[in-house]
Amino acid sequence: MQAPVELREVSFAYGSGELRRLVLREVDLRVAPGEIVILTGPSGSGKTTLLTLIGALRAMQLGSARVLGQELLGASEAARVRLRRRIGFIFQNHNLLGFLTARQNVAMALELDGALSERERLARAGAMLEAVGLAGHAEKRPAQLSGGQRQRVAIARALAGAPGLILADEPTAALDKQTGQEVVRLLRDLAKGNGVPILLVTHDPRILDLADRIVAMEDGRIVHAALEQAR
Ligand SMILES: Nc1ncnc2c1ncn2[C@@H]1O[C@H](COP(=O)(O)OP(=O)(O)O)[C@@H](O)[C@H]1O
Ligand SMILES: [Mg+2]
Repeated sequence: MQAPVELREVSFAYGSGELRRLVLREVDLRVAPGEIVILTGPSGSGKTTLLTLIGALRAMQLGSARVLGQELLGASEAARVRLRRRIGFIFQNHNLLGFLTARQNVAMALELDGALSERERLARAGAMLEAVGLAGHAEKRPAQLSGGQRQRVAIARALAGAPGLILADEPTAALDKQTGQEVVRLLRDLAKGNGVPILLVTHDPRILDLADRIVAMEDGRIVHAALEQAR
C-alpha cells in the first residue's frame, strides 16, 4: 500500500538573494497508512513550514513530496486545492468562526461536498460532535465553549469530510496538561478507528507517548526518527 506521506530530500528557503534562508534541509519523511507520527523539535526548527508544504498550503521548491498519491513538486494551484480538500487540518488556535454555532462550523467543512443537502450536512455535523463528546453543545458558539471543547469542535470539523490525512500543528498549545492529553487521545482514537493517519507537530512533551512514532527536527533537519513500541 502506498504511504499517505512520502517525502524525499525536501528543502525549502524563505526569501531570496541576500535574505534567502534555508529552513528545511533534505528532509526525508514517511507516514504509513493509519500511522500516528509526532514531529517534535525546538521552536524555529522548521516544523510548521514542513507541515504547510505537506498540506499543500505552500508551494514546494526542491525534492519530492507525494501526499495521498499527489506529487507536490510542480503541482498546479488547482491540484493543490483539490488535495487540501482531502486533508483535515487542526491548528493551535482552532480557527472556528465566532458567529457560527459548533454545528455550523463543522457543517462548513462539508460544504465542498456538493452531494449533501444542507440538512444532511447539519445532521452529519451533529453526529461528529456527538463522536467528540459534544452532543449537548452543538448549538453553542465558540465563545460559549471552553478551550478543550473548542479544540474538540476543531477535531470534529477536521474529521467530518472523511479526510485521508490529518495534519495538526501544536493542537494542545492553548490547553492545560490534562485537557491537552484528552484532546489528542480523542483525536488518536477517532483517527485509529477510521484508519486515518495523523502527522502532529508539537513541542509538548506531555503528548509524545500518544504517537506510534516520534520524529525530531533540529535546524531544518530530521535528527532522529525513533520507532516507538508498537501498541
Ligand atoms: N513566512 C516566513 N518568512 C520568513 N521566515 C519564516 C517564515 N515562517 C517561518 N520562518 C522562519 O523559518 C524558520 C522555521 O520556522 P517554522 O517552520 O515556523 O518552525 P517551527 O514551527 O519549528 O517553530 C524559523 O527560523 C522562522 O523564523
Ligand atoms: Mg510552528
